[in-house]
Amino acid sequence: MKRTLIQQSTVINEGKSQVLDVAIEGERIVAIAPRISPAVGDHCIDAQGLHLLPGLIDDQVHFREPGLTHKADIASESQAAIAGGITSFIEMPNTQPQTTTIEELEAKFDTASQKTAANYSFMFGGTNDNLDEILKLDQKAVAGLKLFLGSSTGNMLVDSPEILEKIFSSTDLVISVHCEDEQTIRANTEKYVNQYGDDIPVELHPIIRSEEACYLSSSKAIALAKKTGARLHVFHLSTVKETELFDSSIPLEEKKITAEVCVHHLWFSDKDYADKKTLIKWNPAVKTQADQDGLWAALNDDRIDVLATDHAPHTWDEKQNPYTKAPSGGPLVQHALLALLTASKNEKISLERLVQKACHNPAILFDIKERGYIRPGYYADLVLVDLKKPCTVTLESILYKCGWSPFEGTTFAASIHSTFVNGTLAYADGKIQATQAGQRLTFDR
Ligand code: DOR
Repeated sequence: MKRTLIQQSTVINEGKSQVLDVAIEGERIVAIAPRISPAVGDHCIDAQGLHLLPGLIDDQVHFREPGLTHKADIASESQAAIAGGITSFIEMPNTQPQTTTIEELEAKFDTASQKTAANYSFMFGGTNDNLDEILKLDQKAVAGLKLFLGSSTGNMLVDSPEILEKIFSSTDLVISVHCEDEQTIRANTEKYVNQYGDDIPVELHPIIRSEEACYLSSSKAIALAKKTGARLHVFHLSTVKETELFDSSIPLEEKKITAEVCVHHLWFSDKDYADKKTLIKWNPAVKTQADQDGLWAALNDDRIDVLATDHAPHTWDEKQNPYTKAPSGGPLVQHALLALLTASKNEKISLERLVQKACHNPAILFDIKERGYIRPGYYADLVLVDLKKPCTVTLESILYKCGWSPFEGTTFAASIHSTFVNGTLAYADGKIQATQAGQRLTFDR
């Protein structure tokens, strides 16, 4: 079988940074050593001066298929993901139709199997009335459950306390939650609509979708998880206050309550609304510099376990609407790792910890089989990055179907050299090389 040797890169893996050779045969990594002698016919990649990371596993993306494919689709966004070093994604249920029945879930798996450049799984959506479907789920088939405890894109609010308690009590799956208190947001929105009509200044987004709204909802979800023993994962923390709700003293493998932070909450702050306007309107909202600093601190001391994107594209035209009509969300998968590598250069996080939070920990948290690490026998999902070659986000380089990025014009300190998905060189020389190398994620449960 043809062997690829990635020679003499600095491998960032399992808390270490070492210059090594890595051999790939077929879909798998077969050897890792200081030096591996090339055999006749080996394809050798001289990677001296480059860094090799496990491909990132993004536990929260919205790829919009089915039903919203004018914004994005699985093919376009999975290609953007591999161009950004993300080799596996877990996609959210707020599509049209919503992924809230087994039939819709199977249809999504079927679509993905035919057109994805990256490895994939899905979250099943919980609603006020689909407990029977949740109970029928094969726990090995799906990444986890997703509940919107505050409404966002897609009308998926779960607001019945009785149903919530039943869902929390009835599954061993990881329950991932979007936490923003609905009453608080509604009251704040009403107040500012009375004052401004639809054209509320976007600077008020973090006042409307406030710290209190986040804290109240996260606290309630955590209290319910403690009462029921559910396995809870709180998505996209955006406030320093919420970070106090999480424990840093327990190893991830033993935690029942975990947290995620997304790249936009670590990169932007409320100062950026003046320039970026609704392009950085997200739910939960980007908040203050103090919040951003607190999120970095919590990520570094292990109160926050996972780094992700919440990649949520909308069209440029949709985003140009006045505040109340401009949808929340923005595309991120192509630029998230670049932003994180730049943050690492600025000493916000070490490379080893970046890899732990974006590669190892999603694999641990969701019991993903044989991915997330650079280990013999594991799938060869790998990304080579050049920390000495800056890159600027230009319109022409954007692969998202929506054709824009909140990072347009930004120069990152690093660039993506190449990406392997299941042993296939899927992205190199600034181009997608393989559009269908992705496989369905499997789980060790
Ligand atoms: O900003 C957001 N956009 N937050 C979400 O929770 C949903 C997402 C979307 O689907 O557009």
